[in-house]
Amino acid sequence: MSWGLANRLSRIIRPEDGRTVMLAVDHGYFLGPTSGLECPTASVVPLAPYADTLMLTRGMLRTCIPSTVDTPIVLRVSGANSVLDDDLSNETIITDIEEVIRLNAAGMALSIFVGAPHQHQTIANLATLIDLGERYGIPVIAVTAVGKDMVRDARYLSLASRIAAEMGAHIVKTYYVEEDFERVTGTCPVPVVMAGGKKIPEREALEMTYNAMQRGAAGVDMGRNIFQSDSPIGMIEAVRAIVHGGASVDDAFAVYADEKAKGGAVTATAGGLADDRKI
Ligand code: 5RP
Repeated sequence: MSWGLANRLSRIIRPEDGRTVMLAVDHGYFLGPTSGLECPTASVVPLAPYADTLMLTRGMLRTCIPSTVDTPIVLRVSGANSVLDDDLSNETIITDIEEVIRLNAAGMALSIFVGAPHQHQTIANLATLIDLGERYGIPVIAVTAVGKDMVRDARYLSLASRIAAEMGAHIVKTYYVEEDFERVTGTCPVPVVMAGGKKIPEREALEMTYNAMQRGAAGVDMGRNIFQSDSPIGMIEAVRAIVHGGASVDDAFAVYADEKAKGGAVTATAGGLADDRKI
């Protein structure tokens, strides 16, 4: 691994404990103005100091995030589709590598859709991006999005995660499943971070985070369960307490409840197009 790649990777996964709390706010790339992200400057900027990285598109970065924010950036570089298409797998690389460098990104994120109509295209996109990442020293996070009609279970997610790692991904982002999650983390030779999925009650989201960490995850790349919470800062602090502090679910929930009691900013609750989709 080149020095630059190792250095950028250490800005995503904290070297002190090998863990990370990534804040995913890239949903608009195919969902448009997702609940909680209608005005990203208002909802995301206050959360940035609590996140190890912000994952978002170049458009949102340039227009909504002040260049003085020093939270490392992971750029979402796949897309070119929308929630209005039944086949979400038809993605391509949407951001040139020079732009990624210009934007001083610490990493790049791209979705693969194993088992979906555009499986081949998206895995080939990943291979291309990894070659570029290796050339310029920029780590790649493969997002194992679920293909249409694919069952979200450990068998499927370990297949998709392992394929991503075999292509050379430096980090794999996947979903948590109750049954056999160890199989997903145990058969993937690179760090696995957990996506949060659709909004669920705060305690359940913290339980899921705790269980994923106990079962081999290197952290989270979580979105809706943070920015759609009634206390987004409370939630991200609680998730940090589990991921970096080794807190129990009860202790983490108390962190959330304390912050909520202080009356922190409230963002919109779930209700957008994202809610019924398998993302
Ligand atoms: C979609 C993504 C999103 O970033 C992802 O779904 C993470 O956010 P959430 O925790 O809301 O699921 O990569 O492909």
